[in-house]
Amino acid sequence: MSRGAVTEETWRALVEAATRARDRAYAPYSGYHVGAAVLAPDGAIFAGCNVENASYGLALCAERSAVAHLIAAGQTRVAAVAVVTQGPEPGRPCGLCRQTLSEFADDDLPIGLAVPGDKLPRTVERLGDIFAHPFRGDLVKKR
Ligand code: THU
Repeated sequence: MSRGAVTEETWRALVEAATRARDRAYAPYSGYHVGAAVLAPDGAIFAGCNVENASYGLALCAERSAVAHLIAAGQTRVAAVAVVTQGPEPGRPCGLCRQTLSEFADDDLPIGLAVPGDKLPRTVERLGDIFAHPFRGDLVKKR
């Protein structure tokens, strides 16, 4: 299986970080625990988990939580993502998270999908293949 430019060792580290974050997910309403880890171009890894709320619509996804950690650390680009959902089938990032990732990555962004117990992603998908035509910030008029 092609895993893009990311080495197997790095995928292992991303899946491990996402799995550890998933263990801390706050998902008492859906019971669906998700962890994500994003890779910065310099090799640093930032993890996140989903954070739900009694007001259901406020749920924060693991992917956007991980991106927030990357941005707060002063990084500006995402080079790879691993997402660990529940099994048996791995889930893909939701539309909001695909748009968020598109802000900080190009179409070639590899997204590794795994379930608990996996050491490596089961599949690696390309952002541009699962999210065509993102909304583009350069269309927003500056006032
Ligand atoms: N969730 C994520 O964390 N990432 C996704 O890409 C899809 C959904 C979370 C949100 C909510 O807490 C739970 O999974 C069920 O939708």
